[in-house]
Amino acid sequence: MLRKDTKIYIAGHRGMVGSAVWRALENKGYTQLIGKGSGEVDLKSQQQVSDFFKTSSPEVVIDAAARVGGILANNNYPYHFLMENMQIQNNLIDSSLQSGVEKFIFLGSSCIYPKLAPQPLKEEYLLTSSLEETNEWYALAKISGVKACEAIRKQYGKDFISLMPTNLYGSHDNFDLETSHVLPAMIRKFHEAKSRNHEPVTLWGTGKPMREFLHVNDMADAVIFALENEFRDNLYNVGTGEDLTIKELARMIQRIVGHEGEIVWDSTKPDGTPRKLMDVSKMADAGWKASISLEAGVRRTYEWFLENINHFKQVKL
Ligand SMILES: NC(=O)c1ccc[n+]([C@@H]2O[C@H](COP(=O)([O-])OP(=O)(O)OC[C@H]3O[C@@H](n4cnc5c(N)ncnc54)[C@H](OP(=O)(O)O)[C@@H]3O)[C@@H](O)[C@H]2O)c1
Repeated sequence: MLRKDTKIYIAGHRGMVGSAVWRALENKGYTQLIGKGSGEVDLKSQQQVSDFFKTSSPEVVIDAAARVGGILANNNYPYHFLMENMQIQNNLIDSSLQSGVEKFIFLGSSCIYPKLAPQPLKEEYLLTSSLEETNEWYALAKISGVKACEAIRKQYGKDFISLMPTNLYGSHDNFDLETSHVLPAMIRKFHEAKSRNHEPVTLWGTGKPMREFLHVNDMADAVIFALENEFRDNLYNVGTGEDLTIKELARMIQRIVGHEGEIVWDSTKPDGTPRKLMDVSKMADAGWKASISLEAGVRRTYEWFLENINHFKQVKL
């Protein structure tokens, strides 16, 4: 049972997801939050993580630390994506088990599901066929994290849970055009084109693929829901259960940003998977649903973008 003074360690508390979880826990009155940057505790080091657990004794752990990146980064640094993510999660999971942590929340991603799995993606499709090649290194690391938590549930009966978010967006997002995801990249492109006299904006692909997006504050809410409730199973998808075409998304962002120029679709560039939608019924049955509409979430994110335009995070590849 969680108390307001339960010691909660948020690994990756300066990242987009970790910082949203931190704010949400603070807002709910949790007083003993623990966070360490990668400069203080390198989660790749088993020794450093083990020492840190001995001195800080967390009771609950949220793993929002990872090496994340897009197709280019995954393609150029496959070993880093595979090994660093496994090191980070293995050290956190094993130190949590060894030190008697009561509850552990592991965050993965929808890329754990097979490339050709039926849509919407159900949890039971895990490991039923091959992965998408472009991010299989990252996906394999995340799958091993899910399985480690499942094994701990099975062998030790501890409440270790894996939450698989759909595409996330929101404050503290990555707006670096080299490495960002589609939604923040569009916000930046439309904003810059608006300030250059509404020049045309070129976007990749045909605009036909369908994608789902969840605001990071909804994600943080789902994490807290998982903390405060006992789950009967290990793996849960977290999303809105609704998708839209990339073209519809572009029009929405263009309207919110106030860009009045043309949108050019560069169909020589790849579209990626035609559709990627999470089945969120398992999480709904557990009692949680997303509440921030895409329109409201994009508005909030654009406001955050404008307020922070001079100090976006630098993303290392
Ligand atoms: N963003 C999305 O769309 C999305 C979608 C689905 C799932 N997720 C999942 O959510 C989780 C968090 O993602 P995010 O978007 O919040 O990533 P993020 O903004 O890049 O944050 C990652 C955090 O991990 C920490 N970290 C990385 N390597 C570390 C190390 N060796 N030692 C200590 N800390 C380390 C970083 O700490 P420092 O800042 O101190 O360096 C950073 O705060 C990931 O597991 C990801 O798979 C994200």
